Amino acid sequence: MKISIIGGGHVGATCAFLIAKRDLGEVVLVDVVEGLPQGTALDMMQSSSSEGFDSKIFGTNDFEDIADSDLVIVTAGFARKPGMSRLDLLTKNSEIIKLVIENIVKFASNAKVIVVTNPLDAMTYLSLKISGFEKNRVFGMSGVLDSARFKYFIADELSVPMSVVSALVIGSHSELMIPLPRFSSVSEVPLTKLLSERKIDSIIEKTKKGGAQIVSYLKNGSAFYAPAASVAEMAEAIVKDKKKVLPACVYLEGEYGLNDICLGVPAKIGKDGIEEIIELKLNPEEQSFLNKSAESVKEGIENLKLHRSDLFEGDTRKRVN
Ligand code: LAC
Repeated sequence: MKISIIGGGHVGATCAFLIAKRDLGEVVLVDVVEGLPQGTALDMMQSSSSEGFDSKIFGTNDFEDIADSDLVIVTAGFARKPGMSRLDLLTKNSEIIKLVIENIVKFASNAKVIVVTNPLDAMTYLSLKISGFEKNRVFGMSGVLDSARFKYFIADELSVPMSVVSALVIGSHSELMIPLPRFSSVSEVPLTKLLSERKIDSIIEKTKKGGAQIVSYLKNGSAFYAPAASVAEMAEAIVKDKKKVLPACVYLEGEYGLNDICLGVPAKIGKDGIEEIIELKLNPEEQSFLNKSAESVKEGIENLKLHRSDLFEGDTRKRVN
């Protein structure tokens, strides 16, 4: 397996490290800053004897080195500053995404693509449309991260180990995300039987603000350990064909009553990428939250003002309005 990571900042570098540590394959780390991916890769390789991994990590400034990748992870882009929403990054990061996707189409046209750049749902949509790749091959990492944060706050509140908590967050990667207490449990006991409504509401609020809280601490960047760990979990599901059900940002065509949008819902992930979209039976309140979340993503997508001239190769025309 060849796994390329575009963007050698904190998220990209940590992805490279965690993926190599899981021995998922050969890792190529690409960044435009001269020396950065090379130095980072060399540093990580020098940790491999202590860490006990055999995967090779190679740093480069040259997109050509992603040739024939099986999986490409896109982390390139600007991160939020305190006070910014992820949507504030739309214009700046869409230019970066266009350049990155152009190169993926050119050098790694058979790869599956995991998008991490924010605003995640709109950037996943943009990547799918301009690449012309099939919808199972282009998807975003967000639900794994948002669900991991939800799990953490539940485990912390109840003083139980993370390993007994299961929890699910769907919707957009924004404050309109939807943590679902009805689909969350601790050792099979429904969350709604363990915590009062007020406590659950406060955990939901913490989950929604989980990313922003880190941005406000760091001041000059956003979270990277949990985002990278979430990517590594998705990459492992693909490389090992685990058919694991994980929430992911996927292209919807009628599922959940939504069309022509990329949004977070549970999906079965294996060697072909998104192998199945799982449709939960949402109650009317959950569905209305999902619709609101979808509306905000649609607004972002409309602001992208996609034109046919934005498309690279492939038969994308039928999917662009
Ligand atoms: C976060 C950023 C990576 O949620 O979106 O931390």
